[in-house]
Amino acid sequence: MAKKKEMEGEVYYPSEQVVAQARVKDWDALAEKADKDLEGFWADEASELEWYKKWDKVLDDSKAPFFQWYTGAKVNIVHNCIDRHLKTNRKNKLALIWESEDGNEHRTFSYFAMNREVSRMANIIKAMGVRKGDRVTIYMGRIPEIVFAMLACAKIGAVHSVVFGGFSADALQGRIEDSQSKLVITQDGNFLNGKIVELKRTVDDALKKCPTVENVLVVRRTGQDIPMDPLRDHWYHELSKLPVANGKCPTEEMDAEDPLYILYTSGSTGKPKAILHVHGGYMVGTYSTLKYVFDLQDEDRFWCAADPGWVTGHSYIVYGPMLNGATSFMFEGGPAYPYPNRWWQCVERYGINILYTAPTAIRGLMRFGEAWPNKHDLSSLRLLGSVGEPINPEAWKWYHRVIGKEQCPIMDTWWQTETGMFMITPTPSVPLKPGSGTRPFFGQQAEIVDEAGNPVKDGDEGYLTLKRPWPAMLRTIYGDPDRYVKQYWSKFPGRYLAGDSARRDSDGYYWIIGRVDDVINVSGHRLGTAEIESALVSHPAVAEAAAIGLPHEVKGTGIHVFCLLRAGFAPSDALSEELRQHVSKVISPIARPEDVKFLDKLPKTRSGKIMRRVLKARAQGLPEGDVSTLEE
Ligand code: WT7
Repeated sequence: MAKKKEMEGEVYYPSEQVVAQARVKDWDALAEKADKDLEGFWADEASELEWYKKWDKVLDDSKAPFFQWYTGAKVNIVHNCIDRHLKTNRKNKLALIWESEDGNEHRTFSYFAMNREVSRMANIIKAMGVRKGDRVTIYMGRIPEIVFAMLACAKIGAVHSVVFGGFSADALQGRIEDSQSKLVITQDGNFLNGKIVELKRTVDDALKKCPTVENVLVVRRTGQDIPMDPLRDHWYHELSKLPVANGKCPTEEMDAEDPLYILYTSGSTGKPKAILHVHGGYMVGTYSTLKYVFDLQDEDRFWCAADPGWVTGHSYIVYGPMLNGATSFMFEGGPAYPYPNRWWQCVERYGINILYTAPTAIRGLMRFGEAWPNKHDLSSLRLLGSVGEPINPEAWKWYHRVIGKEQCPIMDTWWQTETGMFMITPTPSVPLKPGSGTRPFFGQQAEIVDEAGNPVKDGDEGYLTLKRPWPAMLRTIYGDPDRYVKQYWSKFPGRYLAGDSARRDSDGYYWIIGRVDDVINVSGHRLGTAEIESALVSHPAVAEAAAIGLPHEVKGTGIHVFCLLRAGFAPSDALSEELRQHVSKVISPIARPEDVKFLDKLPKTRSGKIMRRVLKARAQGLPEGDVSTLEE
């Protein structure tokens, strides 16, 4: 692409070939069009999909910040993920390719087969009494049945709540209780990194205190021995044989604003929040962003290497690819088991064209050196992607050079569970700067503001805010609309507060710095300091605790905790290890602290709030900043 003007910093311009292939050749023109006519842009995007009944209004902001999109329309996201493809030659195209952790099992599903499997699962959960609007918790690993389960819920209008399979029984229980799920879908166990994750047993533990759950549907994966409650637990493979579990099931007609799913994520205070997404707008947003950003071509094989348990998996393993009629690849295992070439083997074996992953995975694989990827033919790759946290320029360059052979633009996509879709992101024809997600997606405007809400100068750090509504935006926090308003729309009325700090450079490119609230981003997973601290305090030895994040080579940020012990307990290495294990058990192994320090006192404000910022500065040997409110 011809350089329009000299850009600031290190810039990677797309090759002529990339530009020639790109769907969006004139980024500025499309951005300007969407900017001038937001509703027109999103109406055009929506018109590429099928609706049972068209909308009366594209955007209804009369109840802002409870924005509504495509009001009056009737639709079901599954109609667009599956049903509409069955009328075309995509019917026989592969929707999903799956490989087991050990590489000995391969399963593929055409759109035709996907419809049969999803309908089968839908009929089974319907027979269990699940109805439109009911919540279903899904607690599974990366196997095709998790996709069937999510789509089966959506097909009949039930609301899925996927809980990442690495979460503990306590965390699972809290999420089941909060969502009041009637049904839990799980599997006996999950193969991961050479071990078995005990999913069903964890469900059993969680359900000891969850009276709303009537049934548990268990997919057989490992074949291990597990206890089955004869009244509550049902094997999926047994029910599948019953006549009721046939491969035909009508897709429920939904209002565009009807709930599709809830997904829990950590916030600054208190327990995790249930982010609510709906059928209509979420469908259009994930469809459109994936189409433009990863420039999906009909023959592409797309691999989003996230877990379906996170929003990345929801939007870009399950919904986005199928809305686009694409072929998605899913791998059961981790990137480095049994050897650090496991992913590269998959890229070669399946001819993956687009790989979308997280900086933590790239940093992890980088440590094993270039010889592992170099053993494999990665020439099928056309585009790469990154998500979850800011990507260090070092990791970006390695990814670009060693994996992409300097031929593949890297789409660094900034977004959140709440946004549902990419918000700050390049498209393939855009010049890239390592570490920046470039500019807001079409129709969006970002602004970086100071404490008073005034825009800061280019180059200065401030709060990242979004100025315009977008179709895949969260609609509320399920069960807590006040918290929705308070959390996202109150600090700067009329704008969405992302919770990240950022700066913009003179080319209008955005650089995310990190979370400004009490959220720690470990390997792209959000954990609230409050959650970690509560877990510590639930241990008999701990009176009070504070958690902070410090830089970590692979995880990006590692958790470090400070504990005040109760009388009768003394600091020791054994206790420190016990507390780390305790957090891992109460929340998830992701939350395991790197380090536990014992203190006699925690720095606090006069109003009693722990000053984590001070602990952080001390731990890094940095100046403590403004400590005028400190009371020690
Ligand atoms: C937070 C959202 C969206 C999928 C994964 C995480 C950070 C996410 C980027 C990126 C810099 C990023 C932000 C954001 N983040 N993507 N490309 N560059 N930071 O979803 O758990 O809701 O976390 O992840 O801090 O606020 P999430």
